[in-house]
Amino acid sequence: MDKSESANKKMTKKPINVSWGGRFHEPINDFVKRFSASLSFDKRLYNEDILGSIAHAQMLEHVGILTAGETEKIIDGLEHIKKDIVNNKFNWLLDLEDVHMNIEAALVQKIGSIGKKLHTGRSRNDQVATDLRLWLRNQIDSINKLLFNLQRGIIELASYHSGTIMPGFTHLQIAQPVTLGHHLLAWNEMLERDYGRLMGCRERLNQCPLGAAALAGTTFSIDRKFTASKLGFARPTRNSLDSVSDRDFAIEFCSVASILMSHLSRMAEELILWTSAQFDFVALPDRFCTGSSIMPQKKNPDVPELVRGKSGRITGNLIALLTIMKSQPLAYNKDNQEDKEPLFDSVDTLSDCLRAFADLIPNIEVKKKNMLEAVAKGFPTATDLADYLVNKNVPFREAHEIVGETVAFAIEQGLDLPQLSLLQMKQFCNKIEIDVYDILTVEGSVESRNHFGGTSPAVVAEAANRAMSLITSR
Ligand code: ARG
Repeated sequence: MDKSESANKKMTKKPINVSWGGRFHEPINDFVKRFSASLSFDKRLYNEDILGSIAHAQMLEHVGILTAGETEKIIDGLEHIKKDIVNNKFNWLLDLEDVHMNIEAALVQKIGSIGKKLHTGRSRNDQVATDLRLWLRNQIDSINKLLFNLQRGIIELASYHSGTIMPGFTHLQIAQPVTLGHHLLAWNEMLERDYGRLMGCRERLNQCPLGAAALAGTTFSIDRKFTASKLGFARPTRNSLDSVSDRDFAIEFCSVASILMSHLSRMAEELILWTSAQFDFVALPDRFCTGSSIMPQKKNPDVPELVRGKSGRITGNLIALLTIMKSQPLAYNKDNQEDKEPLFDSVDTLSDCLRAFADLIPNIEVKKKNMLEAVAKGFPTATDLADYLVNKNVPFREAHEIVGETVAFAIEQGLDLPQLSLLQMKQFCNKIEIDVYDILTVEGSVESRNHFGGTSPAVVAEAANRAMSLITSR
């Protein structure tokens, strides 16, 4: 083939059957088609894609670009397509790359050339940014419900166990007695902050990119506020370049999800410790555990272990998104197509973990006796004795020293602090009187921490009530 022949060949235009095929002279390579397609994962955006298209068509009618008749046909066509998809009758075509082009092509096939008018004043770039925001907004609403269920379960359990005494730990060493209710409400505090972060993320993502088109906006006299309000967005996004390139909302969600998962992972870790023979504080319902294929006695806390393990992939998804975004020049780049799988995975994994814990945690069996026995082992009221001396006018540092010596003596004698006689105690400080025994018991210890935020049963019961009204007032 000589030069002019090959030039001629290039000039002969072959029809290429994709919506962007106009300027192309040869069909896309099969491997590249597969490599660049997002259909396998973005089809789950179909509902949002159709909602966005309906709102866009209504806006085009509102500003006089489409007639009422055309709009009706488009909306009708889109609703039929939605039914087909829901009923598994939709013919997804990989050749059409993604969810957006599949639905648009199906619309043209259904209603003819009027369908080709839908893409007026729009691009897949603002379309996908809109779809993803709509989708994530919905998902956050569902996640909030799951989170609510989990928090309710934890708070109810905390209220029930407002007076159940267990060891409080620092460095995983028994430190001071606390109530189980207090410990559970600490979990709830973590989750309450997660709720706040989810809501913050929702608020920031709730803006409509439609109208930004490919990157620079459009020559048509569109009404962006109209589209935004049809889709329940608070307002249109402010800058067309930013609208198509911003994926902060996805990153922010993945970051919120990572923090939330790190909380679930910490809770999981404690449940795993507490179910071990060494602690034996709680038992998990059988339906959340599995056995061992070789050791018949085993009952493994699989669900908490998986929750702890899955927190890894959620953090991984955050890192993936940050890395995808970090060097992209404005505005849209195909890199952004890579935002979906990590985001979808974070939403799915987080939802599953919340669902599992919302069912598991309220159903744990609490072994009160074991908790109480464990608490006695670590001289948990030593600080109470020091505080007692301070109340008798001994400076705290001196009191600390005196109690240290008393504890060393008790260890030597193989006794707990409340088992020492008054005489034995008096040899370390003669200000110790018979009333010391009131504060040496674990009950007295928790009882006396009755300030706001403390562990006393009355304060915990009150805190549980407050936490419950907070979540129910959402
Ligand atoms: N599937 C694409 C994505 O997820 C849609 C946007 C494509 N835009 C483009 N200019 N190629 O990002």
